[in-house]
Amino acid sequence: MKLIKFYEKLLSEIEADIEIVIVVAKNFDQRFVDQEKELLKDAGFEGEQDETCLLAEKRKLFVGADSIKSNDIRSASAAAVRALLSRGYKIAKMASYMSHPTCTATLRAQVEGLLLGGYRFERYKSKHSTKGLHKVRIALEEYNGYALDVPAAQRAVDKGIVSAEATNFVRDIVNTAPDDCYPEIMAQIAGELAEKHPRLELEVLTPREMEKEGMGALLAVARASRHEPRLIHLAYKPENPVATVSLVGKGLTYDSGGLSLKPADFMVTMKADKSGGSAVLGILKAVAELHLPIEVHGFVGAVENMIGGDAYKPDDVLRAKNGKTIEVRNTDAEGRLVLADVLCYAQEQVQADYLFDLATLTGACVVGLGQYTSGVMGFAAEPVNRVLYAANTLSGELASKLEFNRFLRKTLKSEVADICNISNTRYGGAITAGMFLGEFIDEAHKDRWAHIDIAGPAFVEHPWGENPHGASGAGVRMIVRLLEKLARGDAHK
Ligand code: BES
Ligand code: ZN
Ligand code: ZN
Repeated sequence: MKLIKFYEKLLSEIEADIEIVIVVAKNFDQRFVDQEKELLKDAGFEGEQDETCLLAEKRKLFVGADSIKSNDIRSASAAAVRALLSRGYKIAKMASYMSHPTCTATLRAQVEGLLLGGYRFERYKSKHSTKGLHKVRIALEEYNGYALDVPAAQRAVDKGIVSAEATNFVRDIVNTAPDDCYPEIMAQIAGELAEKHPRLELEVLTPREMEKEGMGALLAVARASRHEPRLIHLAYKPENPVATVSLVGKGLTYDSGGLSLKPADFMVTMKADKSGGSAVLGILKAVAELHLPIEVHGFVGAVENMIGGDAYKPDDVLRAKNGKTIEVRNTDAEGRLVLADVLCYAQEQVQADYLFDLATLTGACVVGLGQYTSGVMGFAAEPVNRVLYAANTLSGELASKLEFNRFLRKTLKSEVADICNISNTRYGGAITAGMFLGEFIDEAHKDRWAHIDIAGPAFVEHPWGENPHGASGAGVRMIVRLLEKLARGDAHK
């Protein structure tokens, strides 16, 4: 499903093959629902969150939502589109949903849900499905009967489209097989974005240039792959920026674990280890389309972690760009090595007001927080809280804070080098990985940095909310919201 359009019309004036009706808080007496109340009851429809009921003769699809809040409406809209994926209806219409006469947040979530729920990845299917919706037309007519401010509603719809399309763009990259999406291809995708948007500029570093930069950690991880690494720097430069933000992404196009090889079952889905880097590209696409007055620099370390005669080894000592030496004790803790160099490079290139990194960094984060929630860490509360607020309150993505502490820092001590790439304890693995990254943050950026471990939500094995199977595009909506808030000049929360 690709197209959403807002119509300055009543529902009855809009042509469509089917109407989608959200049944909010099991209110069967609402005017969109009450006519079909008996039929719905007969069909056993109870109006539970995301429960759907198709009344084909009435040309209506009903879907339940626990409340009219953004998260429930986003999820219900996604469920409705999903229920119609294998049907013949092409064009749907629906009312607009708002939680308050002047708040368009729910309307934006509705649009996001429709586009995110309708996502399909068919690159490798011989037959592309012709079924499912092509268009959804959203009416001016509001669920509560609120009189919409048309320009505000249109803006909410437009923003919802941009953030959902950026998320789906990231899903496409992440879902692509590792042999079709390797570092050079990621750089190519960044190049296509730069060509489309006049305010995007691209610079790509090759291994020779990275050698000159002293990126011994990133280059070691990349060595055994037949695909050369790339450091992608994609920058968005508006005319009068109110702030500058750097984003760093882990772009492991495949993580086999290296010589500390992953067990077979754990290797499957490791094409998704490029989720952080892909999210950075998607965020820049959205920022350029929204024309945000913020200068945003995206840095992606695109690397493949493989085995072979040339592979880096446990016991190797690497020198990162900032001169720190790293004892390798596990080649599967490769993301932090790549990020160490990319973080140093990003800080040298740009003095940013905020520095965020996005990475599928640790299995421990998934164990600790569950597969739906990102872990957010840093030295200072302010950037961390900004991420938490943008994620949980604005975007509908889940994020939770993990605290650094001085005792865990000590577990990274090395007998032979400045630091070890793994901790000497298996407890607190998400935090020790974050603290390792902290060693590569300079004084000037210490209070401006937050690390976001998206290992849990980045890849979906059992669909949830607005996420079908496969890549979720985690991180895109939360950071886009954070940047939008920053652009408004809102004080930090
Ligand atoms: N890419 C993985 C982390 C990961 C695991 C992401 C599961 C998504 C799902 C990372 O490079 C890794 O392998 N980390 C190790 C670190 C360990 C060796 C200290 C891990 O989490 O087991
Ligand atoms: Zn790994
Ligand atoms: Zn990894």
